[in-house]
Amino acid sequence: MDEIPRIRERIDEIDQRLVLLLKDRYENARLLGRIKRARSLESRDPEREKVILRKVQGTTVRLGLEPKVTLPIFKEIFNFSVQAQQTPSHNHAIGLEGKKILVAGGTGGMGRFMANFASVHGASVKIIGRTVPRTRKIAKELEVEAGSISDATESDIVIVAVPMESVVETSIDIAKFMRKGALLTDLSSVKTGIADRISAKIPDGPEYVSLHPLFGPGVDHTTGQNIAAIPFRTGPQWKSFSRALRKAGARVHLMPGAYHDRVMGQVQVLHHFALLTLGASLRKWDGKLMTSSIVGTLERIEGLLNNWDTTIGIQRLNPFSQVVRREFAKACGQLAKMQQSDLSNIESVLQSNVQKWSRKL
Ligand SMILES: NC(=O)c1ccc[n+]([C@@H]2O[C@H](COP(=O)([O-])OP(=O)(O)OC[C@H]3O[C@@H](n4cnc5c(N)ncnc54)[C@H](OP(=O)(O)O)[C@@H]3O)[C@@H](O)[C@H]2O)c1
Repeated sequence: MDEIPRIRERIDEIDQRLVLLLKDRYENARLLGRIKRARSLESRDPEREKVILRKVQGTTVRLGLEPKVTLPIFKEIFNFSVQAQQTPSHNHAIGLEGKKILVAGGTGGMGRFMANFASVHGASVKIIGRTVPRTRKIAKELEVEAGSISDATESDIVIVAVPMESVVETSIDIAKFMRKGALLTDLSSVKTGIADRISAKIPDGPEYVSLHPLFGPGVDHTTGQNIAAIPFRTGPQWKSFSRALRKAGARVHLMPGAYHDRVMGQVQVLHHFALLTLGASLRKWDGKLMTSSIVGTLERIEGLLNNWDTTIGIQRLNPFSQVVRREFAKACGQLAKMQQSDLSNIESVLQSNVQKWSRKL
């Protein structure tokens, strides 16, 4: 079989990943540029460039590559980053410029992400946390303002990014202050019993769309990220916010809440549960001999631990979770008896599932 098309396909995939990494670096450089401008610092830092080049050279040599090939690429990347640092956010207008955005739970992981996203794109952002000192401290770090619930009166968009157990109460409290035509949105990872209750209990005035960003707070840009959106009451404010998310590279998928929870029953409940049981069973391994595959798995388990409240909230609140976990336990039971039983049924199910997924990848 001719190997050339296969290798070219692999190279094409690597090119796509390189572009995504460049975009990641670009967004971080832009963020850095904003902070440097606020502190009147130069965008180019020759000392920092020397440190990076030394590190790159070390890794290049360790991997058996030629530094004369990699170093010039990094010098080009520095130019690209300096240009990114000097690019103010209004050069990439997405329609959030001048909007007043209030983020409840803005001191937490996803709240900070949303506050930062809105602020980088020119919105005037206020955040609310549970205590005033922490809210002020984090507002200063994010270069946004510390606010209070009454700021909802003036806000065009209110984003509720508090733990799932508190989303309904917080949203209802805030919605009372919001004016007609403003947009209320929450980020809850489960919709049944949360988004539907909010929609039923808030006043008629504000628009309401429940969002679920399908990424964690560790992510630093929206390009290529999926966001599920459950529209309850839409209008011009949602139109403009969803357009802004799309212009920032996100993929906004509209769907009913029940469909969202059914899919998340597989993508989150089952996936997280399998990782958690794996992590809890890895008792006899001292961590000395690693494969890259297990390193990736451990990073995922660590990610779940770092977001423990959300991880457990999804397991407890998703209405499909019990069924999904029972299905998992059944498959575990069957596989555990592999010495005695015929596994051809499980093998054929796995093969057909893999074929189904690989068509979508
Ligand atoms: N983490 C994820 O990967 C992820 C992804 C998508 C969506 N979400 C959703 O995003 C929301 C926030 O998750 P997160 O991971 O960002 O949580 P988090 O880091 O724990 O942040 C929670 C925020 O809510 C505040 N808060 C805590 N308890 C509260 C209460 N009882 N009443 C009002 N505010 C309270 C916290 O204030 P303090 O700072 O004062 O503690 C903090 O600002 C959840 O609805 C979750 O389902 C999470």
